Amino acid sequence: MRAYQILPGANIDGLQCVDYPDRELGIGEVRIRVHAVSLNYRDLMVAGGNYLVTVDDPVIPCSDGAGEVLAVGPGVTRVREGDRVAGAFFPHWIEGAPTPAKIRHSLGGDIDGMLAEEVVLHEDALATIPAGLSFIEAATMPCAAVTAWNAIFVSSNQLKPGDTVLLLGTGGVSVLGLQLARAAGLRTIITSSSDDKLARARELGAHHTINYRAIPEWHDEVLHLTEGAGANVVLEVGGQGTVNRSVSAAAMGGTVAIIGGVSGFGGEVNPASLLATAKRMVGIYVGSRSMLEDVMRFADVSGVKPVIDRVFPFGQAQEAYRYMESGSHFGKVVIEVSARA
Ligand SMILES: NC(=O)c1ccc[n+]([C@@H]2O[C@H](COP(=O)([O-])OP(=O)(O)OC[C@H]3O[C@@H](n4cnc5c(N)ncnc54)[C@H](OP(=O)(O)O)[C@@H]3O)[C@@H](O)[C@H]2O)c1
Repeated sequence: MRAYQILPGANIDGLQCVDYPDRELGIGEVRIRVHAVSLNYRDLMVAGGNYLVTVDDPVIPCSDGAGEVLAVGPGVTRVREGDRVAGAFFPHWIEGAPTPAKIRHSLGGDIDGMLAEEVVLHEDALATIPAGLSFIEAATMPCAAVTAWNAIFVSSNQLKPGDTVLLLGTGGVSVLGLQLARAAGLRTIITSSSDDKLARARELGAHHTINYRAIPEWHDEVLHLTEGAGANVVLEVGGQGTVNRSVSAAAMGGTVAIIGGVSGFGGEVNPASLLATAKRMVGIYVGSRSMLEDVMRFADVSGVKPVIDRVFPFGQAQEAYRYMESGSHFGKVVIEVSARA
């Protein structure tokens, strides 16, 4: 079978398609024919050698993939041949709160990921795909959708329908966050550098949109749109350049979910900006397999169809990475591994 591999830090040019030998399945292991893989900002970080964890040897990249079970090893009970499955970002974080052991390994980070024709995963790392989701749609869920789900529905103060969610930019996490929040009856405000992307966000049901280039003081605009109340949860993907504005835009008692750093990491947050307003900042690190099951079930039941900006064939993984790097996408970029995706 063929698989891509990359030495972290070798950049996109270092992404190579190679022949991989098959190996026998051990106890509890499952062989999966991968149909679709989606890209995340994190895959660019791995390629650039800037990701949180790194390794000295090449890895099969990408955390997010979906496919069907080809064969099961001894002792497997959770899945059967032919089942449709997605792999969990952290193979050992099944449920509950994270621990160092649960998040020690992540697909496409320090261990082999999903950008391959076939992968072998432990049965515990698999979530069954509901009937209403295609392989391509399910392939967008393990990182981006789980992260948004964790931020909005698990790690924030309990939200009520009608509460406000603020989403920054129109990348994978934010657009999925918009779709999930909208389907759950939450008020949504989303920012972007592009009016065209904001128009697409309104088509998806965004209640309010703000161009953060045209309105650099976008946090004031969030307060204005919410009659001074602010957002009950902010999906903070911007990092250094946005975090203080996100805190300002949050409601009293609201949550700033610290997710990413597309504008860089660093900077300072004044503790006083949280104190008298009882705002909370909480770090989000993707989520568990159980969150993956929950978000896929919610998408199935509510009819959420993840926005797929563009699908590249397996042979054009480098082109897919470069397109992602250009930042011109809205939602998710997918690599179709097999024609059955
Ligand atoms: N902690 C976690 O578990 C976790 C999980 C997933 C992702 N992340 C992180 O979250 C971030 C987003 O990931 P992603 O996969 O969604 O990325 P992505 O699809 O590449 O989206 C990035 C988007 O960020 C927006 N952006 C860029 N600069 C911005 C700024 N100064 N202010 C506001 N928005 C800005 C752009 O939107 P416009 O083009 O609309 O301006 C861009 O499309 C990354 O830092 C990633 O590492 C963390």
